[in-house]
Amino acid sequence: MSAKTMEIQYRCATVSDVPLLARMHRQSVEDECGKPYPSLSECEAEIERCLGGKGEAILFQVGGADVGYTLFQREPEGIFLRHFFVCREHRRQGIGRTAIQWLITEAWQRPARVRLVVHVKNAAGHTFWRVVGFSDWLIDMKMESKGVAQAPAPADADKPHG
Ligand SMILES: CC(C)(COP(=O)(O)OP(=O)(O)OC[C@H]1O[C@@H](n2cnc3c(N)ncnc32)[C@H](O)[C@@H]1OP(=O)(O)O)[C@@H](O)C(=O)NCCC(=O)NCCS
Repeated sequence: MSAKTMEIQYRCATVSDVPLLARMHRQSVEDECGKPYPSLSECEAEIERCLGGKGEAILFQVGGADVGYTLFQREPEGIFLRHFFVCREHRRQGIGRTAIQWLITEAWQRPARVRLVVHVKNAAGHTFWRVVGFSDWLIDMKMESKGVAQAPAPADADKPHG
């Protein structure tokens, strides 16, 4: 049976799922930006922090196997989607598309807004979100450790006028 016609089951994750979610999150970080893997304990700590706060996680299952998950939080304007992941061997079978459609219509009951952040190096993720109906909104910027760059002097700034 083609996975595009497979039923996906959805299950609310609990604290006992933290090790599984951490393993998936670790793969996701690598896939999204090619960064060195965070350690499993760092991933577990992040998932625990999210679930212990406002975060909720849902696992996606096909034929009883865990094939992906999402971690999100509800906010006044809608949903902030923090993690969304499909296991490598199950990709390009329509699971991501089916899962986000189900989340929007069934789990979240058509919220006014769903927002998320895509790493600038995650071209596949960016394409996926656009294909399923998201559009570019903000540009998230950061500067790390070296401090404020010196602004280049404008040409002719030191020349006396007149
Ligand atoms: C992004 C991700 C969730 C997509 O899940 P998926 O189940 O493979 O997605 P689908 O099969 O439902 O794809 C739907 C459409 O999105 C587009 N798409 C998905 N993956 C793509 C890729 N790698 N390259 C280009 N287009 C892609 C395609 O148009 C696809 O339709 P098609 O297969 O009929 O061409 C999955 O690749 C993943 O978990 N990546 C790592 C984690 C990640 O980047 N998460 C998003 C964080 S912002």
